[in-house]
Amino acid sequence: MIQIIGAGAIGCLWASKLLQAGYSCHIVSRSPLSKNTLQFTDLIGKQHSFKASHGIHLLDASQQAEQSGLLVCVKAHQVLSALLQQKELIKPQQPIILMHNGYGCAEQVVKHFPNNPIICATTANASLLTDPLTITHTGAGPSYFGFYPQYSQVTQHSQVESALNSYLFPLLQVMPNAHISKNIIEKCWLKLIINAVINPLTAIHQIKNGELRMPQFAPLIQPLVLEIFAVAEAEQLSFDLNELQETVENVIAATADNFSSMNRDIHFNRETEIEFINGYLIKKAQQHNIETPILDDLYKQIKVLENH
Ligand code: PAF
Repeated sequence: MIQIIGAGAIGCLWASKLLQAGYSCHIVSRSPLSKNTLQFTDLIGKQHSFKASHGIHLLDASQQAEQSGLLVCVKAHQVLSALLQQKELIKPQQPIILMHNGYGCAEQVVKHFPNNPIICATTANASLLTDPLTITHTGAGPSYFGFYPQYSQVTQHSQVESALNSYLFPLLQVMPNAHISKNIIEKCWLKLIINAVINPLTAIHQIKNGELRMPQFAPLIQPLVLEIFAVAEAEQLSFDLNELQETVENVIAATADNFSSMNRDIHFNRETEIEFINGYLIKKAQQHNIETPILDDLYKQIKVLENH
């Protein structure tokens, strides 16, 4: 059984894929859900609806199912509080899977849940939440799951391992192109780098991702990737600079018609994930005495917009 914390676009997407494949799942939402049906439009435009009690159980934050793997799909700045709200209900060794933009949450979570295996996950799937529990799958891409390095300290390995297999198996089975990665930190950093470029720029200028291909952005994007590359290198991550520039360009092209999540957060006056994206990279840069003027500037501009 998978319990999904967060009824946003990504949480509902995994719930829909699980339900479609015949698994049941729980969705835990911070605010009470006024509807009891999950509506899902798949990649080819086919509509599906899943009624509560037919495999899907809608819970509030004070409830939690027994014996479940937790897939946490809230925004980075909400991860720790969402888990702490359920602290009494989370059993030792229950796997906690973190799937969000940005980086740095696992470090926080492991301090509060030292006996739970923490799995970091990243997905390039995109989906759009148009109403509560109403989503459209708008883009496909790979998803990766891997242990946060603290796993080696968790006791009773074999027990944890078999539990993990049964919790991760449904997720790997229901989403095409989903894999276990032995190099999850690198995968998460790659997503972090992509988000650190696309998200603040599209949020500040209130443009779609594809508009970053306009010539005025090239002189900003290339040195920005270079700045982040230097931080990644200092953190012992071995990316190839040209490949990195190319990956960023490819993601911009592949998601050209999307509004990035930070663009939407600013548009709807919501708190953004900037602390866990550019903020995280800036902290790491400071630890290594690396100057990051473009990252700093984007961070400041988003903070100003958030405070408006
Ligand atoms: O945050 C987002 O919106 C997405 O991670 C991405 C890849 C930038 C596409 O919009």
